[in-house]
Amino acid sequence: MEKALILDFGGQYNQLIARRVRECNVYCEVHPYTMSMDAVREYAPIGIIFTGGPGSVYLEDSPQVDPEIFRLGIPVLGICYGCQLMAHHLGGQVTAAQDDSAREYGKTETHYDISFPIFKGLSESGISWMSHGDYMAKIPAGFALAAHSDACPNVAIADVSRGFYGVQFHPEVNHTENGTQMIHNFLYEVCKASGDWTMADYKETAVRQVREKVGDGKVLLALSGGVDSSVCAALLAEAIGSQLTCVFVDHGLMRLNEGDEVEQAFGKWAMNFVRVDAETRFLLKLAGESDPERKRKIIGEEFIRVFEEEAKKIGAVDFLAQGTIYPDVIESGAGTAAVIKSHHNVGGLPDYVDFKEIIEPLKLLFKDEVRQLGRELGLPEYLVSRQPFPGPGLAIRIIGDITKEKADTLRLADYIFRDEIAKAGQDKCLDQYFAVLTNTRSVGVMGDGRTYDYTLALRAVTTDDFMTADWARIPYDVLERISIRVINEVKGINRIVYDITSKPPATVEWE
Ligand code: XMP
Repeated sequence: MEKALILDFGGQYNQLIARRVRECNVYCEVHPYTMSMDAVREYAPIGIIFTGGPGSVYLEDSPQVDPEIFRLGIPVLGICYGCQLMAHHLGGQVTAAQDDSAREYGKTETHYDISFPIFKGLSESGISWMSHGDYMAKIPAGFALAAHSDACPNVAIADVSRGFYGVQFHPEVNHTENGTQMIHNFLYEVCKASGDWTMADYKETAVRQVREKVGDGKVLLALSGGVDSSVCAALLAEAIGSQLTCVFVDHGLMRLNEGDEVEQAFGKWAMNFVRVDAETRFLLKLAGESDPERKRKIIGEEFIRVFEEEAKKIGAVDFLAQGTIYPDVIESGAGTAAVIKSHHNVGGLPDYVDFKEIIEPLKLLFKDEVRQLGRELGLPEYLVSRQPFPGPGLAIRIIGDITKEKADTLRLADYIFRDEIAKAGQDKCLDQYFAVLTNTRSVGVMGDGRTYDYTLALRAVTTDDFMTADWARIPYDVLERISIRVINEVKGINRIVYDITSKPPATVEWE
């Protein structure tokens, strides 16, 4: 498989670069800029991309590369800091912008010389996303200018013979028009990629690797019904069938029909599926608790206990499987902290359960690739494209203390909300949407009588990364239908409000 290499200089968009490369059907990995030249040679990339970063190349403690990298005969694309670094090393001059006019931030009209392979087939002008304080005062010998903006004459440089390209802007960001095409051009026109990264191939390879590693051993997977653990389960089931046991812990705070849906989806595979009905024990532990953090902790701890009990029942399990995905690995520093993050993925698994090894077959995939793999494996679309659902489930969507009655009320209201959103075709536009049962009660009138019931809040957001989010502009008529149905069909709710707060200052969940 051909591979591109992304050298990470600490930029904020590094994951996006990797995603773009993968979207172009070229496999890539993100490695720290300190990667040794021996390791680079061994990795044997068809092309190298230097990311942006917060440093200034002319400062002593700034991240640098071994200049040997420019003698490997491998094409290089430098982005922002990466572009300046390349210019700096190859005899150009990078300085702090003297005045604000040469310092660029935001959307910038940029003019491209489309005779260069990297800009082939693009319009001659377009918007690019800039974010740089330093600029190239002098471009290195052997390079030509390939793009400029009104404020900056040296926006892109190219040395076609060596396959070296540098851009001051960020092609990986959506705001840069044709940015993905530029990355595509670098990979295909410059690095001569053939595009052999497909999910079908990945599936075959991953299945083979799991079989080789596990041999005739037993594997345990905590299956939550979320996308990552579901795809992980499907992949392992395909690879090792009945040597796999998936444990689905139903803590009684799942969405309507969730347990049945998960069970049904996995029924067709020849693996062991254990559904633990733990509603009573979770609700007992949670009884009377209103503090959001305590609720989360109680659920995390109880989950561990249930999982331990199930692991003991199965016995002699060598491998623990986890649905860790690539962003978890990158975010925690390229490969070093995957295990720590895996704890979060599965709701806090015990450190002290004795497994021979941890298997993480999705460790190299981005979320959208995980979804593609799920489809490749034949998982139903409702599981593959589902929105995120937090481990503590409805517990953090019931404000105040939790009872079974409240959980049932919320489950039904939440189902109606999701059902109406889907019927209106709004599910494609929303990244997450759910109902929250507040602990506010208010006076209402129904028929001829007075009511004193709970207020339901509806929450729907759009977001790219869930770190920031905007509240979704759901059409009023859809909100109206939801309101009418909830009031008519759900006992105990007499008022409905719509949450119009973005994140920040709010969070997506209410607790
Ligand atoms: P917040 O509320 O922090 O949520 O804005 C951001 C995203 O994370 C999800 N979330 C969780 N997911 N376990 C999870 O697996 C959790 O404890 C948890 N808390 C929040 C939330 O649903 C949203 O998608």
